[in-house]
Amino acid sequence: MHRNYPDSKVEIQGLSAKHYDNLLNIASLGGYSHFIKKAIGEINIAQDDTILDFGAGTGRNALLMNKKLSGKGEILGLEISELMIVQFRKKTEKFDNINVINQRIDQPFELDRKYDKVFISFVFHGFPFETQKNIIVNAFNALKDDGEFVMLDFNEFITDDTPFYFRIPFKIIECRYAFEYVERDWKHIFSEYGFHDFNEKLFLGNHIRLLTTRKEIQ
Ligand SMILES: C[S@@+](CC[C@H](N)C(=O)[O-])C[C@H]1O[C@@H](n2cnc3c(N)ncnc32)[C@H](O)[C@@H]1O
Repeated sequence: MHRNYPDSKVEIQGLSAKHYDNLLNIASLGGYSHFIKKAIGEINIAQDDTILDFGAGTGRNALLMNKKLSGKGEILGLEISELMIVQFRKKTEKFDNINVINQRIDQPFELDRKYDKVFISFVFHGFPFETQKNIIVNAFNALKDDGEFVMLDFNEFITDDTPFYFRIPFKIIECRYAFEYVERDWKHIFSEYGFHDFNEKLFLGNHIRLLTTRKEIQ
């Protein structure tokens, strides 16, 4: 797969994509599984919500969100990696209300309906600022009036002020876009793009944030 952002680490390829869930589980000594259940459990999902999952990965998050949906709710993953899409389809094959399509989230796109929620998990930090602005616009356009943009990602912090046990792996693993991302005021930026009503839940020593914001009624 061609990489549009060679300095980014979110365009996951090869063995890392093929074994993505297992690698996360092993690297976190099983802790990721517990964390992601807890974080997704905190999202205020209604039984009939329609949810777009930007950069949906293997479908692990879609399955967790689906636990809160009745038969009427739906999830559509947007993903560019065929290796991820194959895993997503396999994992979610029992559920007719969960689907995935090969669709970039960093360029404009049209879908045939508007959604109640756009969820984005550990994708956003890995893009240049100009691309992040495009993603915000794409989320805005894909949402119904009053729909919610839900972002699970790093919190805002000054990297050099974080404790060494976080700072060292963060600096080794993450890309330069992530270092810029954590220092921006995202509530202010989202509000410039028509979002309001912010709610946040913090995890893992406040280094991870589930940020929910609402599309203003036009
Ligand atoms: C770090 S993974 C996170 C996957 C998933 N959201 C999760 O939390 O497990 C980043 C994902 O974003 C996808 N991705 C990267 N760039 C993308 C783009 N421009 N459009 C759509 N998906 C993208 C990658 O293929 C990968 O599956």
